[in-house]
This record gives sequence, C-alpha cells and structure tokens, in this order.
Amino acid sequence: MKLIFLGPPGAGKGTQAQKLMTELNIPQISTGDILRKAIREETPTGLVAKGYIDRGELVPDEVVIAIVRDRLQEKDCENGYILDGFPRTVPQAEVLDTIVSIDAVVDFELPNEEIINRLSGRRVCPKCNSTYHVSRLESEDCPACGEKVIQRKDDMPETVLNRLQVYEKQTAPLIAYYKEKGALRVVDCLGLTVEDVYAEVKKVLGI
Ligand code: AP5
Repeated sequence: MKLIFLGPPGAGKGTQAQKLMTELNIPQISTGDILRKAIREETPTGLVAKGYIDRGELVPDEVVIAIVRDRLQEKDCENGYILDGFPRTVPQAEVLDTIVSIDAVVDFELPNEEIINRLSGRRVCPKCNSTYHVSRLESEDCPACGEKVIQRKDDMPETVLNRLQVYEKQTAPLIAYYKEKGALRVVDCLGLTVEDVYAEVKKVLGI
C-alpha cells in the first residue's frame, strides 16, 4: 500500500505511521526525520535545512523532492510505504504524481489548541526516534532504549505558532487537492487515544 499521512504539526502522523508500518511491514518515510538526521550529521542537505526547520518554515521544494525521489528507489519501498510529512505543498504533490500512484491519503485533523498542548509537551528520543508526551514519562530516559529524551527545537511555543501558520497557508490546500482526486480519508483525532485513532485509520483504509 502506498499511503500519504497529511495533517498539521503534532496531529499524530508519526505516531500512527510507526504503528502501521510495523503491522503492514512497509517503511515510514518521514521527511522531517530524514532532514533532522541530515542536520545531526552536518551533510550539505542538513546545512541547508537547519535554518528553515529551526524557524518552523518549509525546506525548499527541490531539496525535499530530491530526498524523496532517492528514498523511493530503495528496495524496502517495493511493497509500499507511508509518506509522513510529504508532500507538503502543491508543487511537491504534483511532482509526486509523476513518480507514483498513491492508494490513499489519510488527513489527521486536530484543533490548534490541542496541537499546542501536545507539541509543547512532546519529547523525542534522538537515538530510536520514539515520541512521548512529558506527562506520561516517569523520567528523562527513553522507555524504549534508555537514551535521554530531548525537546525538538521547533517545538518551542513561538516556532509552533509559525508552523501552524505555514501549515494553513502552504499545506492545507492539499486537502482539496486530494479530495478532488477521490483519495482523501479524514480522521478526526480530537479526544481519541492513540489506539482509537489507529482503529479509525484502519477503518478508513479498509484494512
Ligand atoms: P516534521 O517532522 O514532519 O513535523 P510535523 O509535520 O510538523 O509533524 P510532527 O512530527 O511535529 O507531528 P506529528 O503529526 O508526526 O505528531 P506526533 O505523532 O509526533 O517536519 C519538521 C520540519 O521539517 C518542518 O517544519 C519543515 O521545516 C521540514 N519538512 C519536513 N517535511 C517537509 C516537506 N515535505 N517539505 C518541506 N519541509 C519539510 O505526535 C505529537 C505528540 O502528540 C507526541 O508527543 C505524541 O506522543 C502525542 N500524541 C500522538 N497521538 C496522540 C493521541 N491520540 N492522544 C494524545 N497524544 C498523542
């Protein structure tokens, strides 16, 4: 299955992608994770991306498209994948249309107030990429691998507000884009646990 997970920052795309990738045995392709790894490793792409990500702006289309184009050619993509955070602009979606035929786009919806609450409390493990909310952590150590969890720089309050504005302006138009193609499946995440959202995702995908 070739899937796109769409939705505002903090809506739960990454959390759900990690669950579904395990069940379907297909990779999660998170452009955010790939870019953060490039920044940590100080690659040329990472050096370009850093300023944009720290400000909560989108990395230029050509940089992200090149990353995805290369990644989709890897062997583990043969049986499908979950694109998490790509495409994020109409030009990115138009290029993707020329490369692959997507089976479905899941749109995770969540009001801004809840997004701000989630992102201000999010902690991530820099080693194994697991994601937590600070209220559910007993210590600063990752329950999955023991590494010290950190707060993403772009989860600082002012940057979150900018990311929400960027989402509305540049990414939300993709909802109409995929609706028109008949590919859109909407999941309203407000008030749902991770497991409840997962059940909805499977329901809208018919799996
Ligand atoms: P990226 O890493 O993709 O960030 P994002 O889309 O802003 O998404 P997030 O990772 O913040 O949130 P999420 O929806 O995955 O939520 P999560 O599951 O973590 O992108 C970062 C940056 O990279 C961008 O700003 C941009 O600069 C650049 N970039 C990336 N892709 C790009 C592209 N295509 N083009 C250009 N630039 C690009 O959950 C959030 C929190 O909520 C967690 O703490 C989690 O534990 C908790 N949670 C999840 N589900 C629930 C639930 N049901 N109930 C309670 N808590 C929950």
